[in-house]
Order: sequence, then C-alpha cells, then structure tokens
Amino acid sequence: MSRRFLFVLGSARAEGNTELLARRAAEQLPDDVGQRWIDLSGQPLPDFEDLRHDSDHVRPPSDTPLGLLLDATLEATDIVIASPVYWYSVSAQTKRYLDHWSGWLRIPGLDFKARMAGRTLWGVAALAHEELSVADPYAGTLRYSAAYMGMRFGGVLLGNGSKPGDVLNDTGALTRAKTFFAQDAPLARFPYETADAA
Ligand SMILES: Cc1cc2nc3c(=O)[nH]c(=O)nc-3n(C[C@H](O)[C@H](O)[C@H](O)COP(=O)(O)O)c2cc1C
Repeated sequence: MSRRFLFVLGSARAEGNTELLARRAAEQLPDDVGQRWIDLSGQPLPDFEDLRHDSDHVRPPSDTPLGLLLDATLEATDIVIASPVYWYSVSAQTKRYLDHWSGWLRIPGLDFKARMAGRTLWGVAALAHEELSVADPYAGTLRYSAAYMGMRFGGVLLGNGSKPGDVLNDTGALTRAKTFFAQDAPLARFPYETADAA
C-alpha cells in the first residue's frame, strides 16, 4: 500500500509554530507519499457524547466535519497529530478529535480498531518551555493511544517557540525535522508490556 499521511492540525491559531515544524518535516516525504492536511479549527467537531453503553454510535455523514475526519482517518496509513503543547498535553481541539475515536470504535460494522491496527501515529508539537521533557505527558498520550489501538508510534517531533515563527530559530528542531518521518515506527506498547520481569 502506498503511504498516505494525514496531518491533523490542532492549534488554536493559524500558521503557528506547530504547523511550521510539521511542514518542514513533511517537505522531506518522498513525492509518492500522499499528504492531506486538515485544520481542526476549520472543521469544528461537536463535543463528544458518550453513548457507548446506551446505544450504537452511527457513522457521521461524510458532508459533516466529523464524517470528513472519520473518512480521512480511515484513508490514511499515517496519522500525524500536529498539536501544540497545551497544559502539557494536546490541545482541546485535538483531544476532541481523539475522543471521537472512542465513538468510532462503537460504530457497528466499521471495525475501526481492526482497521487502524498496524497504521502509524506520529506527533509534532511546539512548546514554549525550553526543557522538552515537560512534553512527556503529551508523548505519553499519543504513545498509549497508539498502543491501545494496536498502532505503530513514530514519536513526537518537538520544537521550541512561543510566538508564531519562533520555531524557525530552533535549529535542533529543524535538524530533527529532516529525518523525523524516516525513523522506524515500532508497534506501540504500554510500559507494563515491555518491562523486564523483576
Ligand atoms: C492554552 C495554552 C496552553 C499552553 N500550555 C503550554 C504548556 O503546557 N507548556 C509549554 O511549554 N507551552 C505552553 N503553551 C505555549 C505554546 O505551546 C506555544 O506558544 C506554541 O508555540 C504554540 O504553538 P502554535 O504556534 O502552533 O499555536 C501554551 C499556550 C496556550 C495558548
């Protein structure tokens, strides 16, 4: 299967550092790799309503933002969460998109989990803090979500910046962007699955 990357932009502003960094990384993808970019602020998703234990979730029509996101997610071999670090995790827009995955898991006949298994989740994020380790909760959110879904995880490309454009001064991030998507993306595992027996 030729690869198709879906970039899900989750910033609350246009053309911010996260998108700039994601575009730098995407420039390195070979020409035969598809790219689709969806800005969640242009496709506002409804609040997630938890019907899992009351009734089946129904497939959202393709002409709605939610249906568009579902179709785009199913079409992608690689999903790139391009969200800034907000409160040490993903943005609310991004979290809402991920919450809807829980509904999609319950759409009869969709087989969302089985279809997502083996695909790859990646993260790209800008943050104002200079010590990148404060983004560990963000990376954990994506890694564990990938593990739950049986997906591969390519890690998170982090760049420093506060105001738009700052990340272009983070030479380390720009260097990492050049090879980010060429990295191995092993199947994600929860820590308890890989911990050595004591
Ligand atoms: C609501 C909000 C929460 C934020 N939380 C964090 C944070 O927890 N850690 C941090 O280092 N920066 C934080 N920031 C700063 C942003 O991550 C930073 O400005 C980043 O460059 C924004 O990305 P963008 O330009 O792609 O929108 C926060 C900014 C906002 C607006």
